[in-house]
Formats: sequence, C-alpha cells, structure tokens
Amino acid sequence: MRIVVFGAGGPTGHELVAQALAAGHEVTAVTRRPHLVTARAGLTVADADATDADAVDAVVEGADAVLSALGVRPGRAPVTLYSTAARTISEAMGRHGVQRLIAVSSSVLDPAWRPSGAFFFNHVLDPCVNRVIARTAHDDMRRMEAVLRQSALAWTVVRPSGLFDHPEPTRYLVAEGSADGVFTARADLAACMLRELAGERFVRKAMGVVTKEVKPSIPRMVWREAVRRR
Ligand SMILES: NC(=O)c1ccc[n+]([C@@H]2O[C@H](COP(=O)([O-])OP(=O)(O)OC[C@H]3O[C@@H](n4cnc5c(N)ncnc54)[C@H](OP(=O)(O)O)[C@@H]3O)[C@@H](O)[C@H]2O)c1
Repeated sequence: MRIVVFGAGGPTGHELVAQALAAGHEVTAVTRRPHLVTARAGLTVADADATDADAVDAVVEGADAVLSALGVRPGRAPVTLYSTAARTISEAMGRHGVQRLIAVSSSVLDPAWRPSGAFFFNHVLDPCVNRVIARTAHDDMRRMEAVLRQSALAWTVVRPSGLFDHPEPTRYLVAEGSADGVFTARADLAACMLRELAGERFVRKAMGVVTKEVKPSIPRMVWREAVRRR
C-alpha cells in the first residue's frame, strides 16, 4: 500500500514509518523537520505542514491510506492542530478519492474510561495531566473526532492511554470506545494502526488500544514526556 504518515517527526510517527516500511509498504513521511528522518528504500519524505491545504493536497494524492500521529506539546494555550489538520486532510482525501484514515486521539475522550490504575495514576497523573495540563489538547481532539464523524471517509480514531517507548510490539488489547488500561506502548499503537488498515471492525468508530504485557517506569515516562526534545 502507499501510506501517508502525518506526524512522522514524532515518536509514534517514527514507529509507524519503521513498521510500515518493514511490512513492505511505500511510505510518505510528512514532517516539518525532514532532516531528522533517515532516508530508506520505500520512503519519501515530505516537508509539509499538516494545516497547509496545498501541501496536504500534494502529499495525499495517489495514496491508498492516511495515518495521523500528529500532536502538540500539552499546555494551557488553546489547541487547534488536531481539528484543523483533520479538516485539511479529510478534504484533500475527499478530493483525491482516498478513503481510509486512521488518526490518533486519546482514551481520555471516552467519558466511560476510568481505568483501574495504581494510586499515583488515579490521584496524581490522571487528575493533573489528563484533566488539567492536557485539557486544551483533549478539547481539540474532541473537535477532530467530530470532524471525522461528519466526513464520508472510512475513518478510525485510535485512542491510546499514557504513551511510553518499548522496542517492539506486544500482544496489545483493543476495544471499541476505549480499552481498560493506563498505558500504551508506541510500538503497539503503531502496530494496531497498521493492522486496522486491513480491518473492518472499527471503520467509522473509535477504538482503544492498551499495553498490558509490559509496564513503563512512571518516573522515566514522566521525565521523557516532560523533557524530550521535539
Ligand atoms: N503522551 C501521551 O501519554 C499520550 C496519550 C494519549 C494520546 N497521545 C497522543 O498521541 C499522539 C502521538 O504522540 P507522540 O508523543 O508520539 O507524538 P508527539 O510528540 O505529539 O509528536 C507529534 C508530531 O506532530 C508533528 N506536528 C505537529 N504539528 C504539526 C503540523 N502543523 N504539521 C505537521 N506536523 C506537525 C510534529 O512533528 P514535526 O515537528 O516533525 O513536524 C510532532 O513531532 C499525539 O496526538 C498525542 O496527543 C499522547
């Protein structure tokens, strides 16, 4: 398949590109920092902003499917990236007859998501990070999901829980709406998105994906998310 990956400069985007190439797909990696993407067989790197209609139109033309791992650093400022890019990408896909779109959102968007995490998650991470620091990002993810619902595309919204890095995919769990779990390895998120390219079960639906086989170190995860260079 010819797959376009938005957010290819981020850590989930890197996983998506690597796993898609390993599976034999032709990949267009869309990033505003093309110098950070290593050239490989089967890979085209596009220097484009996901909110620029002309640039998005050019990269989407001729694709079989589009994956989005776009994201912003959480903060109190209003966020518009998710919804603006969703509109720009879905309109370009409509113009070029590209049907399949899989975009990353968050478990937090499912009002029923109340995972049974440990004390630190339930009383510190979830209320402080998910409900305060990342609130404006989640507000815009909600608008993104609404944009996709109103489109005619074969979309799937994939909602991970707290992301962490793990070198390879595990036997991750999925469920409609959200999955019961506190963490998701980026390798599992990417593997799940690539698998759903061929799946029917979650077309025009939101789904959750969580990792249970391995657990991150929470201090290392917080440190990584707080200080990582973008
Ligand atoms: N961290 C968590 O615990 C958590 C939990 C649930 C969901 N999520 C969501 O999961 C997704 C992936 O997260 P992640 O941590 O792997 O990645 P990330 O650090 O959020 O990176 C996303 C990438 O999006 C790209 N981007 C941002 N604005 C862009 C624009 N206007 N045009 C083109 N590219 C743009 C940036 O790449 P360039 O600068 O290279 O263009 C950035 O590297 C995000 O949506 C995040 O909100 C995260």
